[in-house]
Amino acid sequence: MKLSLSVTKKQKRFIDAVESEVLFGGAAGGGKSYGQVVDALLFALIYPGSKQLIMRRSFAELDKSLIRTALALYPRSVFTFNSSTHTGRFKNGSCIDFGYCATENDVYQYQSAEYDCIRFDELTHFTEAQYVYMLSRVRGANGYPKQIKSSTNPGGVGHSWVKARFVDPAPKDTPFVGSDGMSRIFIPSLLDENSFLSEGDPEYRKRLLALPEREKRALLYGDWDIFEGQYFTEFDRASHVVKPFEIPASWRKYRTLDYGLDRLAVLWIAIAPDGAVYVYREYCESGLPISQAARAITDRTPKGEDIYATLAPPDLWSRTQETGKTKASLFQEYGVTFTKSSNDRECGWLAVKELLCHTDGEPRLRIFENCSELIKCLPALTVDKIRPTDCATEPHEITHAPDALRGFAIFHTRPAEAADKMRRTVWTRDMWEDYRTADDEGKKYLKQKYGEPI
Ligand SMILES: Nc1ncnc2c1ncn2[C@@H]1O[C@H](COP(=O)(O)OP(=O)(O)O)[C@@H](O)[C@H]1O
Ligand SMILES: [Mg+2]
Repeated sequence: MKLSLSVTKKQKRFIDAVESEVLFGGAAGGGKSYGQVVDALLFALIYPGSKQLIMRRSFAELDKSLIRTALALYPRSVFTFNSSTHTGRFKNGSCIDFGYCATENDVYQYQSAEYDCIRFDELTHFTEAQYVYMLSRVRGANGYPKQIKSSTNPGGVGHSWVKARFVDPAPKDTPFVGSDGMSRIFIPSLLDENSFLSEGDPEYRKRLLALPEREKRALLYGDWDIFEGQYFTEFDRASHVVKPFEIPASWRKYRTLDYGLDRLAVLWIAIAPDGAVYVYREYCESGLPISQAARAITDRTPKGEDIYATLAPPDLWSRTQETGKTKASLFQEYGVTFTKSSNDRECGWLAVKELLCHTDGEPRLRIFENCSELIKCLPALTVDKIRPTDCATEPHEITHAPDALRGFAIFHTRPAEAADKMRRTVWTRDMWEDYRTADDEGKKYLKQKYGEPI
């Protein structure tokens, strides 16, 4: 069999890479997907009986791009493709599965599978959990290289974890070892380096040049600092993240939170006299039942730090089936009294954007640099595909700290009167009891403390 293939310099570097995890990532049209298909073919031919998996997020994408390219490229004399199982087999016993992961849990269909090499195309369409799970499927005793090789444009739900895993830790084209001991490399791909496309379709570059600035930077220049689909494009580390300082006692302070057993996210926020909003402390933890969550919140609020209100989303006021009590009332029993915020997502996100905006050179919102989860998650949120005014709720793990901030933002930007109305808590039976038995002075005090009785 005679194969005549030519590859670009970058594709060759991708094919030759020996690191356990390889990322070929950058401009659209750089030849990444094509590189994957050629690399898979060479691997299959060099290592008889080897097993590979090539993945895309959806079947349609897989079918239209990778399978089509493979069928056009792989010699029929040695390769057959079964279109119902999406498996390609080579005469030498090697096989390539073409797979997809439409839902978060689809990875478990590979529970008993074993591969020498797994390839993700458009890696940023996958979540980190899916990727990490699939790492465990790379194993075998045949002595062949074991690798995960991925290709992608910047952008997509997985943009930030992919960037953190491959792009941020070391300069491009430089192998490095992650804290988990895995060797990795990031090989950037640029459109200009793919002469096959630039010569075959000279107009393509012009079409990319016509894109809006952000898309252009991601797709034409393969810029990882900016990406298509980012929700808070206004976020700018240089102006929104500040060095911590002592917050004056006189500034009004809030706590705002998002609570679920999967994750508690609490932000402590102070308002400066000039209206600047400082997120000065955060606490995020998973798996805390209400008693422990309440304790964590109180423990992290120093004695004497006067909190004006603790904001929580309205769903904490729905009754649980088991106890008939609301989560808000359970928190209250453990000493944390909430003020109901709003769950109007669209208005809430707009209010966050408002805070992020620059007026007179300075944004209103500033985040102490120790609030690392908020700083990581806020710029990582992506636009929801169906409702573009909303943020995507996936990956779920990055939504909690921003949700807590949203609860504050919508509360804070409402006119004072509306905010005052919102600053009511549902009174417990004990509170009513106290109120009923109090004298006028006492009643006034309780109203001030808990808001108008409801
Ligand atoms: N080595 C190559 N030989 C021939 N055509 C190539 C080669 N590399 C890329 N191409 C062509 O260039 C175009 C863009 O490549 P592709 O792999 O789809 O880019 P990317 O995945 O980076 O967006 C495709 O039409 C592809 O067939
Ligand atoms: Mg591609």
